[in-house]
Amino acid sequence: MFSNILLGITGSIAAYKSADLVRNLTKQGFTVRVVMTHAATKFITPLTLQTLSNQPVYIDLFATEMEHINLARWADIILIAPITADFITKLTYGHADDLLSTICLATTAPIAIAPAMNQQMWNSAITQENCQKLRQRNIKILGPATGSQACGEIGAGRMLEPLELIQFLQNLVLTQPLQGKQVLVTAGPTREDIDPVRFISNRSSGRMGYAVANAAANKGASVILVSGPTALTTEVPTISVYSAKDMLEVVMANISNTDVFISVAAVADYRPVQQTKHKLKKDSAQLQLLLERTEDILTNVTNLSKPPFTVGFAAETTDLDDYARKKLATKKLDMIAANLVGIDGSGFDSINNKLKVFWNDGNLELPHCSKTELANKLLDVIIQRFSAKNTL
Ligand SMILES: Cc1cc2nc3c(=O)[nH]c(=O)nc-3n(C[C@H](O)[C@H](O)[C@H](O)COP(=O)(O)O)c2cc1C
Repeated sequence: MFSNILLGITGSIAAYKSADLVRNLTKQGFTVRVVMTHAATKFITPLTLQTLSNQPVYIDLFATEMEHINLARWADIILIAPITADFITKLTYGHADDLLSTICLATTAPIAIAPAMNQQMWNSAITQENCQKLRQRNIKILGPATGSQACGEIGAGRMLEPLELIQFLQNLVLTQPLQGKQVLVTAGPTREDIDPVRFISNRSSGRMGYAVANAAANKGASVILVSGPTALTTEVPTISVYSAKDMLEVVMANISNTDVFISVAAVADYRPVQQTKHKLKKDSAQLQLLLERTEDILTNVTNLSKPPFTVGFAAETTDLDDYARKKLATKKLDMIAANLVGIDGSGFDSINNKLKVFWNDGNLELPHCSKTELANKLLDVIIQRFSAKNTL
């Protein structure tokens, strides 16, 4: 459940609005712990915030051992409101010279900031450059609003009103249904070596798997992506693997805490029985390769005594529905997402895709769209089925 809000308050004149923010957040049922910079205490007293939040207020990095780590772990989200120009710079460059900046560096929780400052300070090239960098790191910048300022000037730099900030947090609760859940995703092809320079693989680009991993992270999950060789990058923590055997090892090593396992990777079904030590020579007119089945990752997972909610993918060139339903049953999957490949610009190595999703007593078609959009829609279906299974 998304309920612990760490409210950072920094040295802006708008800090007086934070009292109202704490009061309303507490009334809405959130638990709020306030961390103030020393400059913030010049504008509003810790006692006010302690009384309104009914929680201790934290200021000093060295007051107690390891409080920065405890608070970094406790927070479901960090909201810094107001945030000064100075603190935006500290956040951008990863300073850790006071309690709040150290917590920001030590947390895995999402961070949102509500800037408040004189309009020149806001419009200055350095503040704008810093904010751009923060956006790239997925730090959400709320506001600022435009209007008359405490300094008498008019322009952008007013902190959003507490009720607007609360609205943002409430929306986040709704759009982060996977908060606290661990999701493991596999993506890309695997490679099965023939000799030191040749391998068997397939045309999977990894795009669908990466999109699924990103979508799960955007919906609040802690995600681990296990990826075969691709040219893609992501912010999601990724473990790179090479062959089906490597992928199985990494999946099984990470499966115990997993709530949802989504197997998007196009794992090679066969590998050469022997991988020669030296490059094969083209001596004969024909070359026969003897292949053996690779490890079946999905079956290994669903055969566990307590398997996670498991979603498979099927890529077929014909009879999509039949093959998908068969795979759903034989591999004891909770869901399967099936797509036709190599037919109409969908599937492997393409930007767009469409999917047909099957579960035991239902199915749904997800329309042709970008893999990013499709991954979001697929995650919505997974969340519905996962919640239905867990409340049965
Ligand atoms: C009366 C007064 C009001 C201030 N208001 C702001 C403000 O709204 N925004 C801002 O970025 N800095 C403001 N400052 C400057 C910050 O307090 C100063 O940069 C301080 O070092 C910020 O420390 P912190 O980021 O650690 O909280 C103000 C300073 C004074 C004296």
